[in-house]
Amino acid sequence: MATSIPADRVPDMGKRQLMNLLLLGAISLPAGGMLLPYTYFFVPPGGGGSGGGTIAKDALGNDVIAAEWLKNHGPGDRTLTQGLKGDPTYLVVESDRTLATYGINAVCTHLGCVVPWNAAENKFICPCHGSQYNNQGRVVRGPAPLSLALAHADVDDGKVVFVPWVETDFRTGVNVVVS
Ligand code: FES
Repeated sequence: MATSIPADRVPDMGKRQLMNLLLLGAISLPAGGMLLPYTYFFVPPGGGGSGGGTIAKDALGNDVIAAEWLKNHGPGDRTLTQGLKGDPTYLVVESDRTLATYGINAVCTHLGCVVPWNAAENKFICPCHGSQYNNQGRVVRGPAPLSLALAHADVDDGKVVFVPWVETDFRTGVNVVVS
């Protein structure tokens, strides 16, 4: 059974538009406010530059000064520092005594053990289940499914700064998926 609303109780067009606008504002303001932190969370800090990076820390928790590091670490050296999100990350000294522009995350891609560097074998060998990675962290033997993660190792104001690696993995040619 249809009921009709008396004409004097139906808001005119102008009032309805105003009410719609108010409703839209009431919904979109809090929604926008909630969306902002999410958007911020998914945008990588620094966008690949050194601006949003993390200063590498040595075993004592001090900032890693590139020049000092190179005085004490020779060619081929791979030593753990504290990197992005606190992950243990190898700083690599190249054969020409410069710092590599990448750091190698030491967390095994199998089940998360920290993988030590084995200089004699020129590999990273995981003590937990035997996965092996070459001297750049590329997986060469399983069960690890993936290579060790990379981070940019930039030098900013004399300090080593790790920045998330969002480009193609130069060791495998595969695009990195940032989680
Ligand atoms: Fe490294 Fe299993 S955790 S091989």
